[in-house]
Amino acid sequence: MLAGSASAQTPDGAFVFSQNCAMCHQSGGAGLPGQFPRLAGRVGPISAKPAGRAYLVDVLTYGMVGQVSVDGQPIIGVMPPFASLPDEQVAAVLGYLQSLGGAPKEAFSAAEVTAGRAKDKKSGSDVLAERQSLVTAGVVK
Ligand code: HEC
Repeated sequence: MLAGSASAQTPDGAFVFSQNCAMCHQSGGAGLPGQFPRLAGRVGPISAKPAGRAYLVDVLTYGMVGQVSVDGQPIIGVMPPFASLPDEQVAAVLGYLQSLGGAPKEAFSAAEVTAGRAKDKKSGSDVLAERQSLVTAGVVK
């Protein structure tokens, strides 16, 4: 087995982000007010609560459809589903986003993503409803 073979390496979360997410969420997860949510400084705090972690895996699997509010601006957009993005890459990109501001948080493992994805399937509007309950609970701001 080649130690350096691509499949044996932990994916680089920043690279996964630049390839799949930055065209909307912008470089460094800065977001675009009113269009694409800022992720820098937000994913860390969301990931501090188990329900927030489950939500992040759901967004990264099923996407999300409908109106949210970020930084005081409404966003009516569509987050595409990324069910085909491998669990390792989802864990890596979430780890990268956690690193963008805020205190260090418990990392995501591929196993955590696998377990989250094995639960009942959701639609993009189910994920929106999940987010709304987390806003009420103060987990998502
Ligand atoms: C085509 C544009 C687009 C792409 C590509 C995209 N997103 Fe999104 N994302 C959105 C939009 C728009 C929303 C808000 C959805 C809504 O309004 O319901 C969102 C929401 C989110 C949220 C939830 C934010 C919150 O405030 O609850 C996270 C987390 C997220 N995206 C992460 C990612 C990651 C990681 C990637 C890459 C793997 C990615 N997105 C790729 C457009 C995109």
